[in-house]
Amino acid sequence: MCPEEISRILEEHKGKQGELISVLEEIQARFGYLPEDKLRAVAQSTGRSLTDIYGVATFYKAFSLTPRGKHLISVCLGTACHVRGGPAVAHEIQSQLGIKAGETTDDNEFTLETVNCLGACALGPVVVVDGHYFSKVKTSQVKGILERSRIGLDRIEIGTDDRVFPIDVSCARCNHSLMDPEHPIDGYPSIRVTVSFGDKHGWMTISSLWGSYNVSSLHEIPLDTIVNMFCPHCHAELMGGSRCGDCGAPMVPMIVRGGGLVQLCARRGCKGHILDLGGTSVD
Ligand code: FES
Repeated sequence: MCPEEISRILEEHKGKQGELISVLEEIQARFGYLPEDKLRAVAQSTGRSLTDIYGVATFYKAFSLTPRGKHLISVCLGTACHVRGGPAVAHEIQSQLGIKAGETTDDNEFTLETVNCLGACALGPVVVVDGHYFSKVKTSQVKGILERSRIGLDRIEIGTDDRVFPIDVSCARCNHSLMDPEHPIDGYPSIRVTVSFGDKHGWMTISSLWGSYNVSSLHEIPLDTIVNMFCPHCHAELMGGSRCGDCGAPMVPMIVRGGGLVQLCARRGCKGHILDLGGTSVD
C-alpha cells in the first residue's frame, strides 16, 4: 500500500462518522493486521497523534497489531459460555494447536483469541472460526472443527451442515420485513431488495440461509460488482458505514428478527458476511 493509497482511503472517509475506524478497517482488510508504518502514515496524513491512533487500534478486538494466521479462532469465555464449558473447549483448542490465546501457530494457519461475549449466549459455548459460528461446542468436537477449518469453512453442504440455518431479516431503516415467501431460495423465503449497479435497476433475492450465498436477480450481476441495495418498502439505501473485512466493499446491515444484526458484503460474490446474534447497532 503506497502513500497515495493511504491518501485515497483517508479522502474517501474524510468527515464521515467513524472516519478513523473505517480507515483502520480498510488497512486491516488489506494486510490482515495494522502494520506500524501504515499507522504512522495515517498519523502523518491526519495530523492525529500516534498515541491516539494506537488507542483506537488497541481498544477494538477486531484490530490486530501483529500478523494473524490464515484462520482466526475466537472462543467465547463470557459468563454464559464460561458456565457451559467454554474454558474446557478453549483448553482443548490450545492443546491441539500447541498455542495459547493471543498466539499464532508456527505454520501460520491458526490464530487463537478469547472473547468476552459474542452475543449468542443461548448457543454457548460458542466458537467462531473465520466468521462461522459453532454453537454448543463440546471438547470432542474440537478436532473436527479444526480439520474443517483447515480445509476451508466456505465449503458447505446445504441440508447437512449444522452451520447452515435460516434467518429472518428486516430493513435496518424502517424495520419492515424483507422476507419474500413467494420466491424461495434453498427452500426458504428469500430476502428481497431493490438494487442498482451501473445503469441497471431491478431487484435481487438473496438466500436467507446463513452459510448459503445463492442469489437470484432481474439482471445478471457480474462477479465483483458492488451492488447498491435499497429497501423495497421505505426505498432507503441500505449500505451502512462499515467495510467488508475481506474485500473492503461497503457492508449492508439488516436486523435479524429475534435479536441481532447481519451484514452482507455489497460486492457480488464476496463471502465476507458477518452475523452477530446479539448486536443491533447500525452505522
Ligand atoms: S457469553 Fe458467550 S456468547 Fe455471550
